[in-house]
Amino acid sequence: MASEMSKDIPRHVGIIMDGNGRWAKRRGKPRLHGHRNGVVNVRRVLDEAKVLKIPYITLFAFSVENWNRPPAEVRGLMALLREFLRRETKTMVKENIRLRVIGDFGGLPPKVQAMLTKSMEDTKENNGRHLSLALNYGSRAETIEAVKRYAELARSGEANPDELDWQQFASLLYTSELPDPDLIIRTSGESRLSNFLLLQGAYAEIYVTPVLWPEFNEKEFRKAVEFYGLRERRFGKTGEQIKAEQPEPEEAKC
Ligand code: IPE
Ligand code: IPE
Ligand code: MG
Repeated sequence: MASEMSKDIPRHVGIIMDGNGRWAKRRGKPRLHGHRNGVVNVRRVLDEAKVLKIPYITLFAFSVENWNRPPAEVRGLMALLREFLRRETKTMVKENIRLRVIGDFGGLPPKVQAMLTKSMEDTKENNGRHLSLALNYGSRAETIEAVKRYAELARSGEANPDELDWQQFASLLYTSELPDPDLIIRTSGESRLSNFLLLQGAYAEIYVTPVLWPEFNEKEFRKAVEFYGLRERRFGKTGEQIKAEQPEPEEAKC
């Protein structure tokens, strides 16, 4: 099935992993039980990404705004993250996956920073697939940080504001090494972006599913990718223009 779909496979999928709390609540369990099962699901989705040949996956794991949750939940989430890194780093090395973090790295607890640094170091030569974790991430904070860095470059004469274009600005974002997301998935039925990749996702296809993150299995992931394959991406042009640009690639070349 993967090969049938390959021409319509997104290169970069961003996932807003939402609904862990509700999943646990439905079972009469504490929210952390949901988060624990959510982490288990990450491995499942990474395995399916391999089958589907999706090279870039970015997971929204902890937002700038999530610090406002009860302290015990935040501590639990950080502990789960450490557990994930302890367990998964070897697998990532073996599977040729490079790990990156997007977000305000310095604002994470020192122990988490240390483990992330090690995992990123251990996987930095990998180039088969790319997993980015959005941690302490928020698009607005990212944009402000990029603007400040740009202002610094302009002040020191290294950049000329008259020449600023999107490409240069994008190079100052956390995602400078990543292609724009083609598909953004949000689980748990909420149809909002919650400050995730607002600029980079300008032309992403958005797939919302009521399925809660711990239950977002291989089949659900495939449904999202199939949805993507049926979209016509226009980037501001008309549908007719896109169709005219898309005859057999060989014919287009002659
Ligand atoms: C997503 O699940 C995980 C994080 C935001 C860390 P939630 O914890 O937001 O689950 P709901 O939305 O309360 O069900
Ligand atoms: C978005 O989920 C952040 C993550 C998935 C990490 P939230 O549950 O925090 O988003 P809102 O508050 O419902 O918008
Ligand atoms: Mg939520």
